[in-house]
Amino acid sequence: MTAKKSRSVRPALIADIDQAAQILRAGGLVAFPTETVYGLGADAENREAVERIFAVKGRPITHPLIVHLGSASDLPMWAAEVPLAAKVLAERFWPGPLTLVLRRSHRVPLTVTGGLETVALRVPAHPMALALLHAFGGALAAPSANRFGSVSPTVAAHVREDLGSNVDLILDGGLCSVGIESTIVDATNAELRILRPGGVARADLEHALGTTLEAGTTTALVRVPGSLPSHYAPRARVVVVDRLTLADEAQRHASRGRQVGVLLPDDVHPFSIAGVTVLHAPRSTKDYARTLYALLREFDRCGCELVLASPPPEAGLGAAIADRLRRAAGPREHTSDFRPSSATSATSGASNDGV
Ligand code: TXA
Ligand code: MG
Repeated sequence: MTAKKSRSVRPALIADIDQAAQILRAGGLVAFPTETVYGLGADAENREAVERIFAVKGRPITHPLIVHLGSASDLPMWAAEVPLAAKVLAERFWPGPLTLVLRRSHRVPLTVTGGLETVALRVPAHPMALALLHAFGGALAAPSANRFGSVSPTVAAHVREDLGSNVDLILDGGLCSVGIESTIVDATNAELRILRPGGVARADLEHALGTTLEAGTTTALVRVPGSLPSHYAPRARVVVVDRLTLADEAQRHASRGRQVGVLLPDDVHPFSIAGVTVLHAPRSTKDYARTLYALLREFDRCGCELVLASPPPEAGLGAAIADRLRRAAGPREHTSDFRPSSATSATSGASNDGV
């Protein structure tokens, strides 16, 4: 095992990992913890098992899955070509919250890649994920273990809430330490590109590569559902507003009888308005990323119809948090009257397509 962080698996769960590996070998689905979010895993080489992932998630079959490996040394088995820059990033950030998009080897079924000739690969850092991968001995295709389009699970109970008995086994590895999905880098071309900001910050990637990275639009060949305008969304509508107008906007919506929630940034003076649920965003971006999805779920539990949020500054993990908030605020099928008068942009996720 090559985990950089040496958190060890609790012995009581070793039996579960062996059972999980058996279920995977038999073509079943196992939800497992990673350091980012929980994944819904299947044997990457078993087409039928992979098809079940799409069915259980309600995910269109054209949206490709990430293939999880037990070690960076497996990379040449799953990628047809590993450019030097990809090797540098794998060496520096694996195991960890980085996904590399590379040309697929013939071992990767097209079912996994949604028909693409490229494959997304990563070695997760959670010790239980690594133990599972090693016990299983192959690669695991695994999207986040939530229904398509909704908020990713960061504890085992979220998986149970979302997917219930459609999963054969849920491994409980506690709270995910990063809490937000991996950074996806397209490494198929000489010019690397960030397709989705995530657990590894852009500056750290650039430092490792000694160069700046492109971000933004992807080629037509690359489909990233995380780049759809409305993704990572709770049931409540999320509206992005300027931090200085949060209290006024909350008051305005509450006075219309709406169940309003506010995700209050650490540097905004706390306020209390009758009927408004205020949850505090942690000060450090690390803690904010770790709790973001649980906070969004909490607003749903409180019965909020509308959540007002102001993204943090886009440095470090702040970029990924801001990205998820904007996507949660993206347009849905049913537009509502929840547009704030002073929104910075309720739909800015759309302008960020492909990141
Ligand atoms: O942290 C994570 O990445 C988590 C954990 C479980 O590893 N997984 C995750 O998977 O977020 P999912 O399926 O929710 O998101 C995977 C993203 C999607 O946006 C998908 O389009 C993109 O990876 N992706 C997969 N294969 C790709 C490819 N060949 N080219 C471009 N994007 C790809
Ligand atoms: Mg997902």
